[in-house]
Amino acid sequence: MIPVILDVDTGIDDALAIAYAVRSPELELIGVTTCFGNIPVEEATRNSLAVLERLRCDAPVIAGADRPLGGPKRGGYPRHIHGDNGLGNVRFAAPARRAQDGHAADFIIEQVRKRPGQVTLIAVGPLTNLAIALRKDPEIAAGIGRVVVMGGAVRVPGNVTPHAEANIHSDPEAAAIVLDARLPLTLVGLDVTMKTLLPASRLQVWREKDPEVGAFFADMTAFYIDAYERAFPGIGGCALHDPLAVGVAIDPTFVRDVPMHVRVVREGEAVGRTEERPEGEPNARVCVDVDAERFVAHFLSRVI
Ligand code: BDR
Ligand code: CA
Repeated sequence: MIPVILDVDTGIDDALAIAYAVRSPELELIGVTTCFGNIPVEEATRNSLAVLERLRCDAPVIAGADRPLGGPKRGGYPRHIHGDNGLGNVRFAAPARRAQDGHAADFIIEQVRKRPGQVTLIAVGPLTNLAIALRKDPEIAAGIGRVVVMGGAVRVPGNVTPHAEANIHSDPEAAAIVLDARLPLTLVGLDVTMKTLLPASRLQVWREKDPEVGAFFADMTAFYIDAYERAFPGIGGCALHDPLAVGVAIDPTFVRDVPMHVRVVREGEAVGRTEERPEGEPNARVCVDVDAERFVAHFLSRVI
């Protein structure tokens, strides 16, 4: 079992990523750390606790950054994509558990130091928590087993601007710190995640098989699919961005990745862009292709 910390801004696809991780025996979910992003960090924490409760998982949840390193959050929260409550407006009771005391960055440091070379960090929100941890304790870079990031758009257009993907755009400074840290880093960006579409036709069986937990996830996913259809008419489903990062942690053969030097644009119109710089030393493995059919089937086999 791979000990995993999932760093999230829960969000619908973050919720699906949590479910995929909890239900995958290859992974031991040792903690869920939260960040601002799709919603404010307090709501990301609440949503993560609610999702874990539905899944009957008692992994600790630790709240983290409420803003980017550089100051206030740029732009608003994408309520039209994830709903007013971040989970597609699906109603749920206030979670019984509370977040564990402390900051997400300190939890990351503590766990990496406790299990040198073993912990995989799967980051599917802005990279602020990991950047804070690296600033505070740069030595952890050598102790992290693996970092899998859902973020970036290297050879394809962005989704929040023509240049930038949402997670990197939300905190480009943090992303630059992570890319400069000489980490065993895999970038799972829009280059591959936009190819992993979940169509609405797959939701009914989820509701039928499990009218309680399955319907909870199916209902929020239906909201997400509608948002995708509005944004990209005719697309035929929602992209499984964050679940693909979990999939790559479980089975790296879902994707083809190439070593690359990636630089983050930190100012101007293209802020948040992840650029390929062939002249630089590779600082990440960038996913450029995905076996979408096999991955989506695997995801569904675990969560439904
Ligand atoms: C990323 O942005 C968020 O809205 C999603 O949860 C995902 O992590 C996709 O660009
Ligand atoms: Ca996310």
